[in-house]
Amino acid sequence: MQFPITRMRRLRGNSNIRDIVREVKLNKEDLIYPIFFKEGLEGREEISTMPNEYRYSLDEGVKFAKELESKGLKSIIVFGVPDESKKDEIGSPAFDENGIVQKAIRKLKEETDLVVISDVCLCQYTSHGHCGIINDGTEVLNDISLEYLAKTALSHAEAGVDIVAPSDMMDGRVGVIREVLDDYDFQDVLIMSYSVKYASAFYAPFRDAACSSPSKGNRKSYQMDPGNYSEAIRECELDIMEGTDFLMVKPALTYLDIIKTIKNNFNLPLVGYNVSGEYSMMMSAIATGYLTEDAIFESLLSIKRAGADLIITNFAPLILNEL
Ligand code: PBG
Ligand code: ZN
Repeated sequence: MQFPITRMRRLRGNSNIRDIVREVKLNKEDLIYPIFFKEGLEGREEISTMPNEYRYSLDEGVKFAKELESKGLKSIIVFGVPDESKKDEIGSPAFDENGIVQKAIRKLKEETDLVVISDVCLCQYTSHGHCGIINDGTEVLNDISLEYLAKTALSHAEAGVDIVAPSDMMDGRVGVIREVLDDYDFQDVLIMSYSVKYASAFYAPFRDAACSSPSKGNRKSYQMDPGNYSEAIRECELDIMEGTDFLMVKPALTYLDIIKTIKNNFNLPLVGYNVSGEYSMMMSAIATGYLTEDAIFESLLSIKRAGADLIITNFAPLILNEL
């Protein structure tokens, strides 16, 4: 049927009609909030590259998490910022049972019902800022790194985490983490692999926030090349074979095609990571008046429409009340 019998505008006639025919909606439970806990801090401190975002002390961060929980947040992903003086070649503070993340996990599990997820990586904890162990130069050594990543994941499980989220992009990490978790009777701890993680310029504000920039070199030998597409499918296939429970695409907004492809190819819950650069870009456009806050909802909706079931986003505190 064509015009004039068919009139598309009938389905847009008023807001109730629009509400009942809308196919994709954002829900509170879709959001995962990334929070930074900083060792030795009192209160909170502003993150200069991310407007409205803070690094938190243990007490202050858990207080904020409770506030978000009371607004309907279901899950949180924890990042640690250790004392600069404790960083070393192998990232020891990452697997210290009294490390900042381990403490934050324990306190969040004691004081909230949130699903607690932990980022598993070494870059915030190594003196060189790479996500794995390096040789004399800047080459990141895959197989040795796996041992330290597995130790880190185990220490998070021992602290009571619900889900570990390895973000390092070493080959084989999901397998070694699943194995060590199972060996130590943590078969119910889930793995949310950063399966498809591109070497992206959109992580810059985060690296500033987490003090995790590589001091030499870059991450292109382990994170994916932005020109690649089929490789995303291979990464997911391997992570599934190794036992991941979730898949992830990161960044989200510049990789919506990849989100859609992964959704069409696999049946696991899929996470889109709305990264720090996407957040800060939008926030600065809103601050100047070039955009309104509606742009936030539209961009998050695009991530869901592309196929993500969950979205990790710094916007959670700003938008929870409006969902
Ligand atoms: C650590 C890690 C990064 C992000 C999450 N975990 C940075 C990186 O890989 O350099 C980025 C998050 C963001 O930009 O919001 N491996
Ligand atoms: Zn890292």
